[in-house]
Amino acid sequence: MQAYWMPFTANRQFKSAPRMLVSADGMYYKDDAGRDILDGSAGLWCVNAGHNRKPIVEAIQRQAATLDYAPPFQLGHPLAFEAAEQLAAMAPKGLGKVFFVNSGSEAADTALKMAIAYHRVRGDAARVKLVGRERGYHGVNFGGISVGGIAGNRKLFPVTLTATDHLKSTHDLARNAFSRGEPEFGAELADELEARITTLHDPSTIAAVIVEPMAGSTGVLIPPKGYLKRLREICDKYGILLIFDEVITGFGRLGADWAANRFDVLPDILTCAKGLSNGVVPMGAVLVKPEIHDAFMAAAGERMIEFPHGYTYSAHPLACAAAIATLNLYRDEDLFGRAAAFASRFEEKAHALRGERHVKDIRNLGLVAGIELDSRPGAAGQRGFDVFLKCWEKGVLVRFTGDIIACSPPLIIEEQEIDRLFAVIGEAIRETE
Ligand SMILES: Cc1ncc(COP(=O)(O)O)c(C=O)c1O
Repeated sequence: MQAYWMPFTANRQFKSAPRMLVSADGMYYKDDAGRDILDGSAGLWCVNAGHNRKPIVEAIQRQAATLDYAPPFQLGHPLAFEAAEQLAAMAPKGLGKVFFVNSGSEAADTALKMAIAYHRVRGDAARVKLVGRERGYHGVNFGGISVGGIAGNRKLFPVTLTATDHLKSTHDLARNAFSRGEPEFGAELADELEARITTLHDPSTIAAVIVEPMAGSTGVLIPPKGYLKRLREICDKYGILLIFDEVITGFGRLGADWAANRFDVLPDILTCAKGLSNGVVPMGAVLVKPEIHDAFMAAAGERMIEFPHGYTYSAHPLACAAAIATLNLYRDEDLFGRAAAFASRFEEKAHALRGERHVKDIRNLGLVAGIELDSRPGAAGQRGFDVFLKCWEKGVLVRFTGDIIACSPPLIIEEQEIDRLFAVIGEAIRETE
């Protein structure tokens, strides 16, 4: 066990009592003791179509035996174009151009670079500043942590981009605790963009605002009613690009294909990953309005590289095969419609935990729920970790962030599995000091 330095893991705790997954099928993992573990977190918010889906597995196998790798710079392969067409066809209307990457972190940094470069190719080179939000998560690369708002992810790396600012988080338990769906209060928090940030920085220096429509990783923070629309209006007023990070919210999680459609707000740039390939092969994408893409084309000679950016594994043939098969599955099985149809039972069962000890908030939308627990004095995060461990012992996988338990199962979950998921969380909470 010693060679592997595990990511975002308490390595010494893990190695003292390993939790090892050895196989997966449908809604369940199997661990090395042969136990079935109900997947209440879609792996890491990514396995939206469930595990071991035959069409995806076979597509990858076929592709590996046909074209294992193709350099993406100055060369193409058919599946890259097909995957892009298919993704553009199901994207929020107006986001018709697709740039492939390999993860959510790469998607975030790509989107930020695109935003700055877009203004520059149009001759608006003063727009270099980036605005994120407290408690936002945009992955772990330098751009992402610069606009991200998780203190713990930044404090060891103080060399972030400097031209940034952050909106306040929308999390407001005093007014919105135990909201079902979008909270009532907090649309006015978007006004900070105009009242403080554009005033302080001069709007003509701001390139983009990036937010997760729903902040997932910091504990399922659902946007207040009207908040995203207000952000859109202010961005429009000052010529600022709006970027939605839909790495979690894309592909059906909120009971709609995209958060952009769920909330009826169209960003200029949208990032996605995770559910794009059902987590089977790493893949991410940045979707943009054609006018952004076209500005790059107009600014460079025909034999010039218009956007000097990309990765060795951009549009990897196996990732493209996985994405095409995944998008087909979503469509053929109407999995986004299924998520919407099961959302009310999910909400009922989640909110049935109200009144359990330590529970200070429950919030939900589509097939995602967050259960926030009181922290132990001086030991923030430990109660959440204990509940996570107890759920694991009881055969259920959930996520925890600090003292918030997050549930985001594959969209193929059955009713009795929803019931079991929340019943086990309830037991675990009752058994946790
Ligand atoms: C909103 C959001 N953006 C970016 C990322 C980073 O994605 P990755 O871990 O694939 O780099 C995540 C991961 O959870 C995320 O939730």
